[in-house]
Amino acid sequence: MPSPEPAEWMADLARAVAAVGEEQLLLVSVMGEDPEGRGDVAALAGDFARTALMAREAGAQVVELNLSCPNTLDRSASGVKPPLCLDPDATVAVVEHVRRALDDGAGLVAKLSWLDEPQLAALVPRLAPLVDGIAGINTVQSRVRRSDGTPTFPGRELAGLSGIAVREPALDFTRRLVALREAGGVPFDVLAMGGVTDPASFEALFATGADAVQTAAGAFADPGLAASCTAALASTLPRSGGNP
Ligand SMILES: Cc1cc2nc3c(=O)[nH]c(=O)nc-3n(C[C@H](O)[C@H](O)[C@H](O)COP(=O)(O)O)c2cc1C
Repeated sequence: MPSPEPAEWMADLARAVAAVGEEQLLLVSVMGEDPEGRGDVAALAGDFARTALMAREAGAQVVELNLSCPNTLDRSASGVKPPLCLDPDATVAVVEHVRRALDDGAGLVAKLSWLDEPQLAALVPRLAPLVDGIAGINTVQSRVRRSDGTPTFPGRELAGLSGIAVREPALDFTRRLVALREAGGVPFDVLAMGGVTDPASFEALFATGADAVQTAAGAFADPGLAASCTAALASTLPRSGGNP
């Protein structure tokens, strides 16, 4: 971020949508910003909706809202802002606005960061009626330092961690999300990610009751990861009718 101009990414997205196979689903992740950087939630929600509509226009079947970015620059201070989903009212305002702006045929997913028990329990019942799915976790905003204590990224105190370092938080988050869905009685898909680097970590996350598992850092290292995970799943955890 920021992304290239819409004319560039919409054309790229249209090409990607055209390449999606019958048993594949492309979720298009979008994000908005408050143009003046003054904490104007209506402007933020409007920008999220504008971007979601552009993704839809370019052919997205499902739009995922990145409500969990740990790298948004804070224009009023040096450094980065906390992820949006730590502010439940702003998060719900954004999701409500996007849901109203999108047509009924568009799927909508909210992507969250790892949240503690009270934060997640307060947010999920408010999001569940608005979305088709909840995804998480994003990278974990952390103070990244070398073993000698010096900053890994000089001048930038906070950065987002992914991969094996976030495996446990992802399992914890997904278990709680699945439990909240069961307790709330409002259906939505759980799209789990965080720390999947091999079939064992994939199966552990899938076994929490998630409907789908995604990977970022693991897929960077091994582009064949998804294929090896689904092959392992087929041999150990057959699920009736499901396509992982
Ligand atoms: C280089 C990099 C860029 C990322 N960019 C985004 C992004 O633009 N939007 C988003 O929602 N998540 C982004 N993520 C977070 C991942 O989608 C994922 O939530 C996180 O890395 C945890 O999963 P993993 O352990 O499989 O990597 C990014 C992660 C990495 C490593």
